[in-house]
Amino acid sequence: MKVVVIGTGFVGVVSAAVFASFGNDVVGIDIDPTKIEKLRRGEVPFFEPGLSELLVSEQTAGRLSFTTDYSSAVTDAEVCIIAVGTPSGASGRADLTYVYAACESLAPYLKENAVVVVKSTVPPGTLQSVRERIAAHTKVSFSVASVPEFLREGTAVADTLHPDRVVIGVQEEYAFERLATLHEPLKAPIVRVVPESAQMGKYAANSYLALRIMFINQIADLCEHTGADIDEVIGIIGKDARIGSHYWYPGPGYGGSCFPKDVKEIAEYSKQVGETETLFITLHQLNEARLPRLFKQWTRLVGGWEHKKVAVLGLSFKPETDDLREAPSLKVIPRLLELGATVVGYDPQAVAVAQRYFGEKSGLSFTEGLSEATADADVIIVLTEWKEITSFAFPATTNKKVFFIDTRNQFSTQKLQELGYIYQGIGKGKSRV
Ligand code: UDX
Repeated sequence: MKVVVIGTGFVGVVSAAVFASFGNDVVGIDIDPTKIEKLRRGEVPFFEPGLSELLVSEQTAGRLSFTTDYSSAVTDAEVCIIAVGTPSGASGRADLTYVYAACESLAPYLKENAVVVVKSTVPPGTLQSVRERIAAHTKVSFSVASVPEFLREGTAVADTLHPDRVVIGVQEEYAFERLATLHEPLKAPIVRVVPESAQMGKYAANSYLALRIMFINQIADLCEHTGADIDEVIGIIGKDARIGSHYWYPGPGYGGSCFPKDVKEIAEYSKQVGETETLFITLHQLNEARLPRLFKQWTRLVGGWEHKKVAVLGLSFKPETDDLREAPSLKVIPRLLELGATVVGYDPQAVAVAQRYFGEKSGLSFTEGLSEATADADVIIVLTEWKEITSFAFPATTNKKVFFIDTRNQFSTQKLQELGYIYQGIGKGKSRV
């Protein structure tokens, strides 16, 4: 099948490469020529395990190519997938500028009966505007569909190849048949729905997962008042088949490119349709308040930050990615510097991206090694649970007090205490402060 994917961000590149690997003829389009040049050379502009290999093999096999030229790519395409970004606008609503720009760019070249798929996360009702914007620039008949993406960064290739379900939100029968054929090699359950359900389903999934994280964070906070251990509590609730044991680890709040943006969007969407007292609004506020709350606790623990050397380990928002969007490091590092600490940042992949984010700042440096980052540190703060960090053999402390703040509960309290650290996890019994 001839497929074009518009937008070579995270979702676009992964989808293009995976559809090519199923034997389709795929062209990725982007308006940024530098990005396209890089992709042609097999260079992925971000770190994602396994993606670069797939990109190279599919381009070598001649099934995947990249261009900035809509006319040559769209003319023959049976399916056009829009996978551009929908960042949060100033109002908190998803900014659909790029989606609409893609519609207007592809419309003049659309083939008769082409199917335009919106994979970008968009609010319910967007497909109607997509249809109208395309129709304004073409005379051919076409169909529009909503096929949301559920992949996670860091495991994107595996998630795309083995999805729990493929959601196809579409009205026209021929379009459904074509999209079902395109996704057939995945051997995943196909859920056919109306487009609005597909869009709502994506927001529902992401906001539920975000809510789950906030819920366990709040239970962890209560553990610190009661002496309960959050891991033991998770062990109890997880055994309930209705609740399940996955996706339950407490931490510094949810980050990344999806949850914060999608919760904000559903909160604002609710207000717009007149539902002014939803839990989504509160959820967003609680997540924003999460790090400041933890930071206060850490400040009490270490007794102030002035002249302290702090090793911040894990700069990306989660392991196996170099994505810093809504990463805890972006809030923690500036606050530490403001309060007079010297900060050394370490991350297995995200140092270069972090350097671009932070620029030159007095008191801030980055290292390529864990030993170097933690040497002489007064405080170690683990913000992301990279394997390199959680499996590192932290040496015993020598003759000074060293605080070890573990925001992902990845370390054994007892072991670190034996090594001489003053350990603070999340919800691990009564807090010392
Ligand atoms: C998420 C969804 O999982 C995915 O289905 C959707 O398509 C995009 O958004 P992603 O943002 O890549 O994927 O990461 P995910 O692993 O879900 O983590 C999101 C955030 O929640 C991270 O900040 C992570 O640290 C945090 N998290 C996750 C927790 O704090 N606790 C958990 O138990 C799980």
